[in-house]
Amino acid sequence: MRLGVNIDHIASLRQARGTPYPDLVEAAAIAERAGADGITIHLREDRRHIQESDVRSLRKTLRTRMNLEMANSPDVVAVALEVVPDEVCMVPERRLELTTEGGLDVAGKFAELEPTVCALRDKGVEVSMFIDPDMRQVEASARIGAPYIELHTGAYANAVGTARAEELERIRTAAREAAKLGLKVNAGHGLDYGNLADILAIPELDTLNIGHSIVCRSVFVGLENAVREMLRLIGRE
Ligand code: PXP
Repeated sequence: MRLGVNIDHIASLRQARGTPYPDLVEAAAIAERAGADGITIHLREDRRHIQESDVRSLRKTLRTRMNLEMANSPDVVAVALEVVPDEVCMVPERRLELTTEGGLDVAGKFAELEPTVCALRDKGVEVSMFIDPDMRQVEASARIGAPYIELHTGAYANAVGTARAEELERIRTAAREAAKLGLKVNAGHGLDYGNLADILAIPELDTLNIGHSIVCRSVFVGLENAVREMLRLIGRE
């Protein structure tokens, strides 16, 4: 199991005061030194945290993989086609949301998404579709030619009791069926140090992309330790 560390909220802190710090290049280097397998950033349409200049400078300095999360909007797609990240995760976006609230409707927006997926693939980018654990979306992702899906674990993370068990089952089933269709399967959103154990037991999962909980933990123990603690939990240290 690999860990992608999402550093968006380090940029949120910087944007809150418009200072040049904390420096994202340094943050990414610390996460990589701690053992992160990749760095995830989301260039949102409203540029609320990550800026285009971050994407460009991280592309030059990252020693692991860059996973760029993005909506299918022309200006962001243009940046991705120019910068050519190792991976692009296509996500839905709503301006007023606090964070990515649901999965991408690949089935419903197939015709709009397909040219972007093709253009990115032509550049050698590994494309991933961020979807809810729903078979209709899994099948559409396979049809659109994306090698990866990322299963949205937000509903699982927010649920309690039997509802959480049901969400877990949805993720398990989607991961299993996706693997049968030849898709590689990542997961992320809302994962933290306390809710990871059941997700780790899903054999098909390749990479977990985790941000908020790691950045929050880093306030107390430092970023390097926060990443190391997460790696230890996923059995990587
Ligand atoms: N994966 C995707 C596609 C996301 O949009 C996000 C949030 O930016 C994450 C993973 C990480 O979620 P969290 O910050 O809750 O760990």
